Formats: sequence, structure tokens, C-alpha cells
Amino acid sequence: MRSTLLLAVCATLPSALAHWNYDRLIHKGAIVGDYYTYIRRTTNANSPITDVTSTDMRCNSGGASGASTSTYTVAAGDEIGFMIDTNFGHPGPQQVYISKAPGLAKDYDGSGSWTKIYAATTKAITDQGLQWSTDNIGSFLFNIPSTIPAGEYLVRAEGLALHGASTQGGAQWYLGCAQIKVTGGGSATPGNSVKIPGYVTGKEPGVLINIYYPVPTNYTTPGGALWPTGTKELSVVKTL
Ligand SMILES: *[C@@H]1O[C@H](CO)[C@@H](O)[C@H](O)[C@H]1NC(C)=O
Repeated sequence: MRSTLLLAVCATLPSALAHWNYDRLIHKGAIVGDYYTYIRRTTNANSPITDVTSTDMRCNSGGASGASTSTYTVAAGDEIGFMIDTNFGHPGPQQVYISKAPGLAKDYDGSGSWTKIYAATTKAITDQGLQWSTDNIGSFLFNIPSTIPAGEYLVRAEGLALHGASTQGGAQWYLGCAQIKVTGGGSATPGNSVKIPGYVTGKEPGVLINIYYPVPTNYTTPGGALWPTGTKELSVVKTL
């Protein structure tokens, strides 16, 4: 009872300190560029998005244009990643979606199709509840699918914070979009694609959830299925 109460108190504290932004891109094990060189800067400091019907769900508030953001060149299949300005300070999954720009990434508002290519979820589910693989991470690494066509893309980091998610609209979405130009690659059309907003309603079991009580015994990440087919959700996050 006591620990349940403590958790309930912690869950309602105003915790701006636990907020975060994705502020730098990683390529092949090293940070590239400076703060927000290749990641669109948000105009809301480090506040999360909570309205899942907003176009801010794409690349955060202020992220519709990449006019002041540079585009970084990678080869298809390369490992890239995001640095977080503090750390991932709330419980929940970390996922990544990509969307091909019709032209240049800097001109693209993210209104096209998005495909989920990475999901880090629970590392364990114990009688204490969901244990997250993302706890306190300051970065995470993943690979660009090797079969996607060459061209320019938005790569969208989505950290979902579930500490206040027991009421609809209480889930917090931390978002950041990197601009990349992919060379090489193949001719696969990224599958399982979704539109943002629209890909979540806020009522999914992985979004509208009390993670404290009753203690959950399972967790389902929201959003489209991972692609390429066969890509698995991860219980261990690779960090820089
Ligand atoms: C857990 O599993 C139950 C039964 O399959 C399902 O109804 C529920 O939505 C799941 N919860 C989460 C958070 O995925």
C-alpha cells in the first residue's frame, strides 16, 4: 500500500525536470553536428505534446518546417541514433518512425506516410509492474533499413511517457525529427505505414493505461507494426 501511495504521489508531481528533447544526431557511434544541426528545434522548450489529433504529433511544435535544419547524409543500413538533452526521465516506450520526403527533407511537413522501424519496450514485467528498457537512457541507436530507396527522409523519435496516462490525454509524447539523406538502398516501399496524426486515438491499451495500479502484467506498444516484417521490439536499448 505504502509503495502504491508513493508512486501515486510521484506520478502527480510537476516534473519539468524529467522532460526531454532529442537534440543531436548520432552516426556510426559518434555525435555529428551541434545541438539541433540535424534535428528540428521545437518551439515549446521541452514540453510534451498531449493532443494526439494535432499535426504537432509529427515533429513536435514548431517542427513542421526544417528551413533552419541541415540534412545529414547516411548510407542505407547505417546505424544512427538520437542524443537526448537530459535523459528519458519517465516510464514508457521509445519508438522511431521514418517518412520519405517528396523532395527535400527540409521542405517536408511530414504529411505523408510514416513507417515504424524501431521500438524499445519493457525489459521485464515483474510483480512490481512494467520495467522499462528506456529507464534513464541518454541516447539510443538503431539502423536505417538497408532496403529503403535512396532519398531524403524525416526520422522521428517518439518517447511516450505513461506516468499520467490513466486518464485520456494524460500520456505525454516527446518528439523530435532528424533530417537525413539516404544513399544506396534498394527499392522496397516501407510497409505498415500510418498517417500522423491519426495513427493513435489515445484510447489504445498502450496509451490509456494506469501503469501503477492494478499492476499491469503485459504491455502493447501503440502505433503501426514494425517494418521490415520480422523486426522485433527490443527489451535492451543500445546507447552511445
Ligand atoms: C493486456 O492483455 C489483455 C488481454 O489480452 C488486453 O486486453 C490488454 O489490452 C493488454 N494490456 C496492454 C496494456 O497491452
